[in-house]
Amino acid sequence: MNILIVDDRPLDLKLLRLWLEAAGATVAEAADGVEAINILEHTSVDAIISDIKMPRMNGFRLCQEVRTRPQTSEVPFIAYSAICTSQSDDRRMIESGANQILRKPASASVFAGILHEIAEGKFLPHPAPTPVPLEAELHKLHLEQSVAKLEAKNRRLESSVEQLTLDHQHLGQQLRQAQSMAALGTLAMSIAHDFNNILAAIYQYCELARDEAHGNATLTEHLNGLSRGATRATALVQQIFAFGCKRNDTRRPLELWQVAIEAAGLLRAAVPATIDVQTSFGQDTPDVFANATEIHQILMNLGINAAHAMRALGGRLTITLENCLVDAKLAALHSGLRAGHYARLTVSDTGHGMDEQTLARIFEPFFTTKASGEGTGLGLAIVRDIVRSSNCAITVSSRLGEGTTFRVYFPAHVEISD
Ligand SMILES: Nc1ncnc2c1ncn2[C@@H]1O[C@H](COP(=O)(O)OP(=O)(O)OP(=O)(O)O)[C@@H](O)[C@H]1O
Ligand SMILES: [Mg+2]
Repeated sequence: MNILIVDDRPLDLKLLRLWLEAAGATVAEAADGVEAINILEHTSVDAIISDIKMPRMNGFRLCQEVRTRPQTSEVPFIAYSAICTSQSDDRRMIESGANQILRKPASASVFAGILHEIAEGKFLPHPAPTPVPLEAELHKLHLEQSVAKLEAKNRRLESSVEQLTLDHQHLGQQLRQAQSMAALGTLAMSIAHDFNNILAAIYQYCELARDEAHGNATLTEHLNGLSRGATRATALVQQIFAFGCKRNDTRRPLELWQVAIEAAGLLRAAVPATIDVQTSFGQDTPDVFANATEIHQILMNLGINAAHAMRALGGRLTITLENCLVDAKLAALHSGLRAGHYARLTVSDTGHGMDEQTLARIFEPFFTTKASGEGTGLGLAIVRDIVRSSNCAITVSSRLGEGTTFRVYFPAHVEISD
């Protein structure tokens, strides 16, 4: 049995050919109605299975042509398409002369059944179609194309609206987060203030009690413990103050490398000997507009975190200060960074590193992975606060088991002369 299959989608043609050949048919292929007519000029076929929507000549038109030609007028014509979604399309296909309409995708067994029915002669000769004027046909085609274009435009509009809605939700989320952070800061400051007064009283009573405890070693030891606890709590309160304080305007142009050397010296004294501290401070780095105490805070917080990440196995802490020209490409990779000239401070460690979930949260105030009493989770929140308020930028890269690198970009200070 010889079947002509017509479809502009090569993949659909291929699949159909495989199914029909598997069911014992021989197959001729055409990519649209015009090619199909050419084949029918010199080949006789037992049936035509055709797609509807095709370039040059669609399935409706092809079916009408087949029905009007004497040599093909009784050849079974099966429309096989996904576009016949409306009853009017189905009706139009039948009016054009089709014997049957199949929806894509059908299965191999459906086509095996169709071949069987063709062999049995079950497809009756079809009455000649009502001729559709070419004008009307072209008009309909034109309308179909316009509808398709409008649908595509509509889809694009829908996806823009979706994007805008997402952006809007995201901005709303950021605003709510900023508001709750501000409220949290105010609350933390007022608690810290009261707490500081209470701590001062504990501390003073502790001193008085120690004076009274002459000779009682056990009592003195207990009081020393109490005093140590109060000292730790005071340090914590100081951190909260530092976080809640509005950054002041005591910034001035300074030589960053000098401050960095000083701070690194303090850091070196604070980390255990199992950590190898390597430093390199470029003295040609530009002056920056900053506050020396804040630079100390940045370096100490980053350095102590790095040391903590290496405390189990030791490792190397590298601190460098260098010139850095940020181009548009690098700037695009990090929010808050603009193209320009910077002094870049890098603090890198070979510690345990972080997974992505931890990395995403490290700048959140009170986020800590340290055991209770070991960390407040405020160190990096303070660093970020300083960085933001000084127009600097901070980047971090880390991998679990491979260490962590923080980079702080300080914009070069430019003197404005009158
Ligand atoms: N260099 C680092 N290596 C691995 N993890 C780090 C590093 N720096 C920061 N982190 C992670 O980020 C978390 C938050 O750091 P942050 O400095 O804000 O708070 P903390 O060190 O836990 O407490 P605090 O600094 O207040 O004592 C840490 O608990 C740790 O999980
Ligand atoms: Mg810390």
